Formats: sequence, C-alpha cells, structure tokens
Amino acid sequence: MRVTAFADTGATGRLIEPHGGRLKDLYLPPEEAEALKQRVDTLPSLQLDTRQLCDLELLLSGAFSPLEGFLDRRDYSGVVENMRLADGALWPMPITLDVDEAFSAGLSPGSEVVLRDGEGRPLAVLQVRDIYWPDRRHEALHVFGTSDRTHPGVAELLERTRPVYLGGRVTGIQPPAHPDFAELRDTPRSLRAWFEANGWSRIVAFQTRNPMHRAHRELTLRAAEQVGARLLIQPSVGRTKPDDVDYSTRVRCYRALLAHYPEGQAKLSLLPLAMRMGGPREAMWHALIRKNYGASHFIVGRDHAGPGKDASGKPFYGPYEAQQLLEQHQDELGIRIVPFPAMVYAVNRDAYIPVNEVTPVDEVRDISGTELRRRLREGSEIPAWFSFPDVVKILREQHPVRR
Ligand code: ADX
Repeated sequence: MRVTAFADTGATGRLIEPHGGRLKDLYLPPEEAEALKQRVDTLPSLQLDTRQLCDLELLLSGAFSPLEGFLDRRDYSGVVENMRLADGALWPMPITLDVDEAFSAGLSPGSEVVLRDGEGRPLAVLQVRDIYWPDRRHEALHVFGTSDRTHPGVAELLERTRPVYLGGRVTGIQPPAHPDFAELRDTPRSLRAWFEANGWSRIVAFQTRNPMHRAHRELTLRAAEQVGARLLIQPSVGRTKPDDVDYSTRVRCYRALLAHYPEGQAKLSLLPLAMRMGGPREAMWHALIRKNYGASHFIVGRDHAGPGKDASGKPFYGPYEAQQLLEQHQDELGIRIVPFPAMVYAVNRDAYIPVNEVTPVDEVRDISGTELRRRLREGSEIPAWFSFPDVVKILREQHPVRR
C-alpha cells in the first residue's frame, strides 16, 4: 500500500510543517485507485453504516492521523485501557470496524475486504490484520466510565455494535460522496492549504453539535482574542446525540451567525464526525482531530461532549472533567487547549460573562437546551439576549409549533 505523505514545501524548498506536523492521507493516486477499483468486485464486500462511514472518511483524509486503519487488537487494548496506541501515542477513542460473525467467518488475517457506502460505491480496501471478539462491556466501562445504556455511546456499543472487530490498514479509492454543502467541507489537506493561502497561522478551533447562540459567539470571540488567533468554527455533522437539531438546519444557523462575527475573523467548516458523547475522552479526540486540520488551539468549555444524565439522574461526567483531562496531557497533545468556564448572561450588564466573574450584584440568566426546545415547541418567546433573530427564525421554521 502506498501512503501519500502530505507536506507543504515553500518556495525555498523548506519543509513547512503547519500545526499538527506532517500528515498522511490514505488515498491512492488516481491511476492506482482506478486499478484497485477494477479488482474489488472479486473481494468480500462490506456495506458500512453511518458511524463506520464517518470513521472511514476521517481515517482516509488523515483527520484521524496517526491512525492508518481500524484498530488491531494491540492498539485496541492500549486505547481502551490507557488511551494509547501500542507505540505509545496518545489516542483516546477506539476506531473499530464491527461485523457480524457470519461475515467474519469467511475471513482470515491477510484477507482483503472492500468497504462500500450505502449505494455500493467502493470507497476503500481493508487489509485484514486481526479478527477479534471484543469485550464490549469492558470497552464501555473504560471508554465511557459506565455501562449505563442511557449513555448514547454505551447504547451504541452494547446494543448496535456487532460482535467481531476487524483490524487493519485501509487504502482509499474515493471519498464518500456528500450531496450537500460541498463548499463547507474540507479535508485536513484542503483546510491547511486554505489557512496558508490566507495567512492564518494561529487558529483556535471550536467544536459544536448544537445551533450556536450569543453565548457561543461570546465564548469563541473571547477565546480568539485571548490567544490572538482566528477562529475555526468546525461543527460535527456526521452523527451527534440522538434528538439533536438536524445538521442541515444547524448549518443554516451557523451561516446566519457568521455574519455576526467581525469580517475575516471566523471560518466555518463541517466535520463529518460520528460523535460518541464520550465527555473527557471525546474532548481529547476532538483536540487531536483539530490539530490534524491545522488548528493551533482548541476550545473546551463546560461539559464538552457531555451525554447528559445517567439513569439515576446524575451527570455522567463533571462539567470540567474534560478540561482537567486535557490539561494533564497538554504537553503531549500538540495543540493548546483553551479552557472556558460556563458563560452566563448578566442582565444588569447586558453581557455574557464567565461564571467565575459573576459578582453578588449580578443577575444571571440562562436557557437550557431542554427549555429552548420547549419554547420552540410552544412558540413562546426566545429573548434577544439569548440568540440572534435570524438564528431563531431558522429554528422556528424547523420546529413548527405543535397544537
Ligand atoms: S458538544 O457536545 O459539541 O460539546 P455543544 O455544542 O453544546 O456540545 O458545545 C460546544 C462547545 O461549547 C463545548 O466546548 C462546550 O463545552 C462549549 N459550551 C457550550 N455552551 C457553553 C456555555 N454556556 N459556557 C461554556 N461553554 C459552553
């Protein structure tokens, strides 16, 4: 397999290593991809589900660098037990290819499998290195800290993930097709090239799976100002928490919000990530991905990638646990974390402030996600201090009032 190394060379021939260092994507050059495509019909074929497709797309583009495929047994156990690949590199989230037993029965180490999208297009070939039966409950306990199925990542793992994992390198033939928002979709390579062409060198990335409101604008602008960086708004649009606002609506909201940033300060780019809602571990994963896209800094706010409350009503993770984990590993991450306390609205100041700056005279307000959904459902007021009228209008169109 040939792995295409990505490195920009400047006019001087000097190797420029943008933030995140060198990066590999896993696609073959076009002629070799075409040749491989010609012979895939003879291989066992696997049609990927949404999560697997998202994972494959980010593996192939280099967004999951240093991974070069689905985890084999050794890497898997290192990641599950202590967030490290077998070679010691930090990697907190198992990226695995689950199949059923009947499919795995026809394979052995050394087999090749063609990986296809829902339309049957061949996207990549997996060179099977390992076929193994994971202990998924053990995985849940280590990765998510719980086996409570109220946690969406645990439910996915214990109820929908198939029992056999295939590990091995993948070789890309073509990327998954996306019919929408082509102009907002980037690979690490194309985004780094854009940063370079536009002279952006300090870049703070922001992850989100929700529509953005005033608190988010305030938080991101403060973060950018604090570290002297431009802002990359990079929402996850692969698969997020069940019941989240659909991504098409969110993208319309983000576009509307972009007009409320100073010109040239913020860029919007969509990330086809299948989130696991893994709290602290997920936050680390998000940071490593953003490093690969060329960001120098990454915002981690309150309850980053939090799945909400468990069956007994207790939050799965503490609101600042993600920040704490990332701070412990800051020196190894290769991207600087910008931690942020909860942002709240102070009525008397008519401004958003970090909760640790609230004084006894401040009268603070907040609207939770649940409360916002209730107001959208009932058509009741969503105040201007909370969001922008153009964003609210888009959300109201999407949530016609139930009578
Ligand atoms: S997440 O699952 O993608 O983390 P969300 O879109 O709600 O969910 O949050 C995106 C980022 O903004 C996370 O870093 C989160 O911690 C941060 N965040 C969201 N709302 C606030 C807030 N009010 N105060 C501080 N940080 C926040």
